[in-house]
Amino acid sequence: MCGIVGYIGKRDVAPLLLEGLQRLEYRGYDSAGIAITGKAGGLKTVKAKGRVRELESRVPKRFAGTTGIAHTRWATHGAPNDVNAHPHLDAEEKVAVVHNGIIDNAPELRAKLTADGVEFASDTDSEVLSHLIGRSQAATLEEKVREALRHVEGTYGIAVLHADFPDRIVVARNGSPVVLGVGEKEMFVASDIAALVSHTRQIVTLDDGEMATLKADDYRTYTTREGSRTAQSPETVEWEAASYDMGGHDTYMHKEMHEQAEAVDRVLRGRIEDRFATVRLGGLNLDAREARSIRRVKILGCGTSYHAGMVGAQMIEELARIPADAEPASEFRYRNPVVDPDTLYIAVSQSGETYDVLAAVQELKRKGARVLGVVNVVGSAIARETDGGIYVHAGPEVCVVSTKCFTNTTVAFALLALHLGRIRDLSVADGKRIIEGLRRLPEQIAEILRGEDEIRKLAGEFAHASSMMFIGRVRGYPVAREASLKLKEITYIHAEAYPASELKHGPLALIEPDMPTVAIVPSDDLLEKNRAALEEIKARSGRILAVSHAVQEKADHTILVPQNEPELDPILMGIPLQLLAYFTAKELDRDIDKPRNLAKSVTVE
Ligand code: F6R
Repeated sequence: MCGIVGYIGKRDVAPLLLEGLQRLEYRGYDSAGIAITGKAGGLKTVKAKGRVRELESRVPKRFAGTTGIAHTRWATHGAPNDVNAHPHLDAEEKVAVVHNGIIDNAPELRAKLTADGVEFASDTDSEVLSHLIGRSQAATLEEKVREALRHVEGTYGIAVLHADFPDRIVVARNGSPVVLGVGEKEMFVASDIAALVSHTRQIVTLDDGEMATLKADDYRTYTTREGSRTAQSPETVEWEAASYDMGGHDTYMHKEMHEQAEAVDRVLRGRIEDRFATVRLGGLNLDAREARSIRRVKILGCGTSYHAGMVGAQMIEELARIPADAEPASEFRYRNPVVDPDTLYIAVSQSGETYDVLAAVQELKRKGARVLGVVNVVGSAIARETDGGIYVHAGPEVCVVSTKCFTNTTVAFALLALHLGRIRDLSVADGKRIIEGLRRLPEQIAEILRGEDEIRKLAGEFAHASSMMFIGRVRGYPVAREASLKLKEITYIHAEAYPASELKHGPLALIEPDMPTVAIVPSDDLLEKNRAALEEIKARSGRILAVSHAVQEKADHTILVPQNEPELDPILMGIPLQLLAYFTAKELDRDIDKPRNLAKSVTVE
């Protein structure tokens, strides 16, 4: 949600920043802007409503400089327009600030500054930062920024340029990521390594409450509050620039769906221990005695990650026989939950940044709970805040809607469920059965993806529905939830997801020929119950698309999915429905990678 990029070095800065913004556009795409310290001194800025290409078309030919900052925005305070786009300047136009996050006390600060005669150019909360920094009487830019931040409550990742200090960029982090990229006599800053990896893989991740000064050949990190030096040395990141390219696909979503077989192979790699029919999860930090003492598992996440958590809770309950459930982190943190010492809490997040999840983790930790993370982005805020966990190793996910991370997260949960199960009461035979099932997954996923043309043909039929119903029972229900979310997000078709068992308690009233139903019908112990639901829909002339292990007579179409162990079926059954959402969105000519009103990584409440 919003992206920051900055550069200081010897190269022409504008093209570098624009390229960085392109790579960050998935984090926000309603407006963008750029500020540089020009060769002749002073600041130059360009801003534009809309996509980065809009900004690019406005950057004048003579926009030379070797130091600059830039931003791509997803509006929180103030409409998306040129004026509200970042960078924001102070009254003298000497300070430029780009900001991710939310300044909670912006209204009070704004009122105070206005009373002092400051005229605000925009409606944003961020603009208070540039005025506070610009008005500071401190001698150095670092001191000015620190002084300004003392007045500020809320979350921020910021980068600051000052016309009087053209040899540096000052950055600060509190609740919104800031990473530095260390190059050869050049330094980069960004909110996400996506903007950096084509230039350097030497990365420094700032902590909350930390600042940095970047000069062309040097960087220095220190605490925001005291200004005392901190020891931060660069780490080499694994993800390569190529992981952020489309690789011959026409959208990131298509590419990422097609990476799922390989991604699942990666999350399994090195973790299976055949000898003991279990798995090795090094980062869990949970010994056997602790694992045995868990009385409940509570999984917290948002959106797709919450749905993956629902799948995970069922797996844990089935394989480890520990009562488990999933809840949206955004709800959990607002209801003053009872925090129980015998409960294992698990935070799920692809980005590792989602504010609601992070805040839930912080609240739980404050109350003494043990919290594990199931996270994709290594070293992200949630990964760092949790006591241990599992990385899902899906690789970077650029499309705003999540596909491969959902799949890999469910596999990570299967590993955790197996691990806990084998410490508790799961037999060796069942352990082996699950391991064999896990090993079959990559090839089965590849098989589903090979069948995408069949699904493409079906999509035409659904593209004109104004509403769709998704149903599933027990293991199929989270799959139905996730499939309906995917459809909504990228096609803008209204979709409802219900447990199949709930149909007759109300939603059946919606069924008619124009309201197609997608039914998840695995060949498990609930097959006959699911077939009964199909009968009910057919009797009301509803059209049915079944996702199943065998052709369903009552359905108008069946998408066949290879069968695995029943506990692992949800991992596979969601994949054809990602494809269905995708091809339906294609039919409708939607902007699939950047759906309206959405952004990757929701770092605000
Ligand atoms: C939907 C989607 C979102 C995210 C949610 C949580 O396709 O991607 O629902 O799953 O915003 O994000 P993470 O997993 O980064 O915490």
